[in-house]
Amino acid sequence: MSETSKPLAGPDLTQGCDLEEIPDGGTLLGHASGEAVLLVRQGGEVFAVAATCTHYGGPLAEGIVQDGQVRCPWHHARFDVRTGEAVGPPALNPLRCRAVERQGSRIVVGKALPPPPPRSSRSGVESVVIVGAGAAGNAAAETLRREGYAGPVTMIGAEPGVPVDRPNLSKDYLAGTSPEEWIPLRDAAFYAQQRIELLPGTRATSLDPRARRVVLSDGTSRSYGALLLATGADAVRLPIPGGDGPRVHTLRSLADCRGIIAHATGAARAVVVGASFIGLEVAAALRTRGLEVHVVAPEARPLERILGPELGDFVQALHGEHGVRFHLRHTPATIGDRSVTLDDGTVLPADLVVVGVGVRPAVALAEQAGLRLDRGVLVDEYLETSAPGVYAAGDIARWPDPHTGRPIRIEHWVVAERQGQVAARNILGARERFRAVPFFWSQHYDVSVNYVGHAEAWDRLEVAGSVARRDCLVAYRVAGRIVAVASIHRDEDSLRAEVHLEHDDQAGLEALLAGARGEGTSGRASGPA
Ligand SMILES: Cc1cc2nc3c(=O)[nH]c(=O)nc-3n(C[C@H](O)[C@H](O)[C@H](O)COP(=O)(O)OP(=O)(O)OC[C@H]3O[C@@H](n4cnc5c(N)ncnc54)[C@H](O)[C@@H]3O)c2cc1C
Ligand code: FES
Repeated sequence: MSETSKPLAGPDLTQGCDLEEIPDGGTLLGHASGEAVLLVRQGGEVFAVAATCTHYGGPLAEGIVQDGQVRCPWHHARFDVRTGEAVGPPALNPLRCRAVERQGSRIVVGKALPPPPPRSSRSGVESVVIVGAGAAGNAAAETLRREGYAGPVTMIGAEPGVPVDRPNLSKDYLAGTSPEEWIPLRDAAFYAQQRIELLPGTRATSLDPRARRVVLSDGTSRSYGALLLATGADAVRLPIPGGDGPRVHTLRSLADCRGIIAHATGAARAVVVGASFIGLEVAAALRTRGLEVHVVAPEARPLERILGPELGDFVQALHGEHGVRFHLRHTPATIGDRSVTLDDGTVLPADLVVVGVGVRPAVALAEQAGLRLDRGVLVDEYLETSAPGVYAAGDIARWPDPHTGRPIRIEHWVVAERQGQVAARNILGARERFRAVPFFWSQHYDVSVNYVGHAEAWDRLEVAGSVARRDCLVAYRVAGRIVAVASIHRDEDSLRAEVHLEHDDQAGLEALLAGARGEGTSGRASGPA
């Protein structure tokens, strides 16, 4: 997946290039001292940063520059072009910056620069406790330190070990095509060095917001100045005979994933229940492992409720081409030791069963603490719950979304991380509203579907480009307005759609669609708001 193995492209920037070769507000890809380097021009200023995204190695030259940040085309990470800082997840690590010298109209790239000095925070918060060591919790802990918070930070995590790259658990890692080293977000030494006390294998069992104290499963308790609830979600199990059998798996944690891999190793057939993103990604991964895979789901088309019929048919056909067999409009009635019996009596042999039928937000602690709930934990625009000093982020949080004008709760990796960051800054007193436009991606074999915005329902769906040729934008409209855009192989357009949605720039979105329809206005020319 990474671009790092590609040969270096563009000019040797240590020899210099002309300022006019770099479009204002744009980029020029070159290299310096054996490393791919991206020059970014902002008026008369030019910055040089490493050209490879620190998340999974995406090609930043194919991204966009917006508000002094370069955005990665693959999963929309953002980096500050002045400092290289990874300001927007999913990237965690900064880009290396290089010195840039002006020699008349020539731009010459020099040595790698040292990282910027650490910030310092004057926050009076005595201590921060984070419950949940996942996407949101980890992002919050790292942000507290990046913002210069020097007080105690404790992260309590029910799973053993360090926080993991959860999206990979249904993709390359499950398929056996990525090594175990890709899975931890950080190693234990990182948390020690950052003075983040990580308590793995420990649950928070009760929370008293008035006393500002949380009780842990090891019998100890912690007081806190501020607390972040980031407990994520639990996979739903099937309430049918055999639904809790030893060969029936759900997939949320690394342990779940290892359990599936153990049963898949040497197995011949798998049944996946649920044609959700996770169910289908699991189907793809198990096909890559050579298993015969049957997908059972009650709907007529996979993913139709979220992506619409065109993309639903496409994704189904794609899996069909890879040998996945679908049993749609059916549900499993019982699960036996080596088989699944469907509601019409069909018996599917199965050495293992993976159930991907959705998740429930893990709100037990919030409920016990008396926080306001509504199909999740209700937070305000600063991500603070109904209890002062208690914040919530990630899959459990329902926040007032300024773009849809309604409280929404979303189960996306990048949203959870961005909320963790904003919650951390607000804990330190920033009073920053959470305004990010939701983004997620889903990988099926060599096709990634990117999605920006949020459309729980829509009254018109429009395909621009060709789904069959794997080159399209799909716009979801409510009362004529575009509220979300899905894309295949139009990564730059997906980034621009994100920017247009951030600015509620409907004209920009319409121009992007026109470009994808081939009406002469390309996505690039339409430009962000
Ligand atoms: C297999 C898989 C693949 C996915 N792929 C994608 C993808 O491709 N794109 C995308 O956008 N999203 C994807 N997602 C969704 C994404 O991973 C979640 O939206 C994200 O992890 C939510 O982050 P979170 O911090 O809210 O919760 P989590 O990351 O789940 O972290 C919550 C943590 O809190 C712990 N916890 C719960 N209760 C307690 C307690 N009482 N005490 C202590 N710890 C507790 C949990 O054990 C867990 O470790 C995927 C999810 C899964 C499971
Ligand atoms: S590779 Fe850049 S965000 Fe994932």
